[in-house]
Amino acid sequence: METKKKGGFTGQLGFVLSAAGSAVGVGNIWRFPYLAAQDGGGLFLLVYLVLVLTFGFTLLATDIALGRRTGKNALNAFGAIRPGWSFLGKMTFLVPAIIMTYYSVIGGWIVKYMVIYLTGRGKDAAQDGYFTGFITSKAAPVVFMLLFLAVTSFVVYSGVEKGIERFSKLVMPGLIFLIIAIAVFSLTLRHTDASGVERTGLEGLAVYLIPDVSGLTASRFLKILLDAMSQLFFSLSVSMGIMITYGSYVKKDVDLNRSISQIELFDTGVALLAGMMIIPAVYVFSGVEGMASGPSLMFISLPKVFDAMGPIGTIAGIAFFVMVAFAALTSCVSIMETLVANCMELFHTSRKKMSLIIGVLSAAAAVLICLGYNVLYFELPLPNGQTAQLLDLMDYISNSFLLPLICMLTCIFVGWVIKPEWIAEEMETGGCVFRRKKLYRIMIRYIAPVIMAVIFLQSAGCLR
Ligand code: PFF
Repeated sequence: METKKKGGFTGQLGFVLSAAGSAVGVGNIWRFPYLAAQDGGGLFLLVYLVLVLTFGFTLLATDIALGRRTGKNALNAFGAIRPGWSFLGKMTFLVPAIIMTYYSVIGGWIVKYMVIYLTGRGKDAAQDGYFTGFITSKAAPVVFMLLFLAVTSFVVYSGVEKGIERFSKLVMPGLIFLIIAIAVFSLTLRHTDASGVERTGLEGLAVYLIPDVSGLTASRFLKILLDAMSQLFFSLSVSMGIMITYGSYVKKDVDLNRSISQIELFDTGVALLAGMMIIPAVYVFSGVEGMASGPSLMFISLPKVFDAMGPIGTIAGIAFFVMVAFAALTSCVSIMETLVANCMELFHTSRKKMSLIIGVLSAAAAVLICLGYNVLYFELPLPNGQTAQLLDLMDYISNSFLLPLICMLTCIFVGWVIKPEWIAEEMETGGCVFRRKKLYRIMIRYIAPVIMAVIFLQSAGCLR
């Protein structure tokens, strides 16, 4: 094995917190609670938990072990094992490259809302049309995006140990503290609406936790399963080359089995807490109908909830957007790090130079994405039935199209070409025990590739 001059994590804690930093992002906070509310509360949670321990674990172990054993990034890892498979490395590299174009734009929106609450103007954000007015304006989204991108680039520029690891160690405990505090606060809420109906946070918690099996059919269950599955692999940042890169920074004496369990626990714990924080709050002030998907939950529904809370809503709004900004930053850092690390390997350049180049290129691409809401506005129907602007189109290509495809090919590569034993050997390095080995074998060879094929066909519009 080549000696690594490229730096790495100091130990298990640095690795786990950095990987968790990548995994915990807006997906946990704005997508998970919405899916749980829509897909039968506790039933979705149950399905999700089973999937994390089987499917999520399999994909996470695959990426991290591939990275550590080859010591390379996605672009070269697959080709280094089997030259005929280098195309898979190139495809994997495309995902963070596409995500990078729009993630900092969303990060900018979050920073903007954080500033709104910090300056005590939460009332403005609760007005109808505020969010649309903001994202369609020409200058403001670009300015906030640049701010977010500058912090991201600075962390990556500072290196793996001094930048990513140090930043994650600082931010992740703070994030956990904030999310627990807001969740507890959310449970204490109560409100009587105009028609005299009183709702409490604890009732909202029941909506979230108690499985709703009324009218459950096989096709509804399949939908819940597919929703949970696609949420899971987006949430764990797998099949994007990110965990391969982070895996390549892990020392040989770190037990990957324990690290992976901790990352699963972290990511799932934050998702569960996000649900405990958002569902009761939205339920108390707007009923379950108030739950919306994606950006409108975070930027439209929640500001209305904070406004309805009265003066304490400003503090809740500050805590919430500071927390989301942390979560988005550590995720964006992992995407940019993956691009920088791959390009350093490709062009044999220094980290500092590459961080600056990728930072500038990302800014240019993100400006185009911002313009997608005014100058470059279009409405494009997607195969999955949604209507897309530029940002949604990028999101669709990377997350709905490329991810399941890459994930399926990776499973075939590991399960049938290099064989699961190749990964198992890495998991057992230094006498570590690979407890879920049998499960891993079955998942990677038979179950995961089939599931990924179904998800791929579903997002390509073939299963509607
Ligand atoms: N895993 C992150 C989340 O759940 O929000 C999202 C994410 C991070 C997506 C990094 C893509 C990425 F490259």
